[in-house]
Amino acid sequence: MSFAIAVDGPAGAGKSTVSKRAAQKLHFVYVDTGAMYRTIALYLLEHDVDTEDEEALSEALSKIRIGIEYRDQTQCMFLNGEDVSDRIRTPEVSQGASVAAAIPAVRQKLLDLQRSMAAEADVIMDGRDIGTNILPDAQLKIFLTASVEERARRRYLELSQNGTACSLEEISREIEERDWRDSHRETAPLCRAEDAVLLDTSDMTLDEAVDALTQLAKERMS
Ligand code: CDP
Repeated sequence: MSFAIAVDGPAGAGKSTVSKRAAQKLHFVYVDTGAMYRTIALYLLEHDVDTEDEEALSEALSKIRIGIEYRDQTQCMFLNGEDVSDRIRTPEVSQGASVAAAIPAVRQKLLDLQRSMAAEADVIMDGRDIGTNILPDAQLKIFLTASVEERARRRYLELSQNGTACSLEEISREIEERDWRDSHRETAPLCRAEDAVLLDTSDMTLDEAVDALTQLAKERMS
């Protein structure tokens, strides 16, 4: 049976960076489920789909083919055959993903894909509802968080390094808005699973957070 580590938490907590590094150390496959929601959001934004119009949404979803490929241990996202890995990282797509992720039909479309990836390999899967909904039997569940200020600072640095113009205040506001929407939606809201280990990385370096996760995984595997 494969081993699954579920990493959930709010926006910009460092889930993807920490999970990706820990996956390399543990020889696990890193699965970024947020990238899947972002890919759907990109299609909906680019095709001006009214997400409140059930028929239009359902037609759009039927036209979306999501492809995932791993290159140099990096998860690349394909939307109907086109590599969109970079284009899904804008603040606009972040907000769009959080709106789309509240729609049950969108979540349903990704559920089987996420579960089948965990069935096929040892995974570290990060998202919002992995421990609570997608992989409730994961052998290790982590709720990774940090203060809003620290999360906004990290996301600001990341976006600035990628050349995206943004302000710290704006990023902070967007993160709070997204957290609120993600935690208050009806379907699979962001919340800590009862059996998840809380890892607050506000005062941790990246290496410390990676070591903490890796250590917990090794304990559970032995
Ligand atoms: O990297 P960051 O924390 O900014 O976001 P992400 O993990 O890429 O996720 C983008 C959005 O997708 C989130 O704000 C959630 O609304 C949604 N999401 C979700 O609902 N469930 C997941 N398992 C993963 C992401």
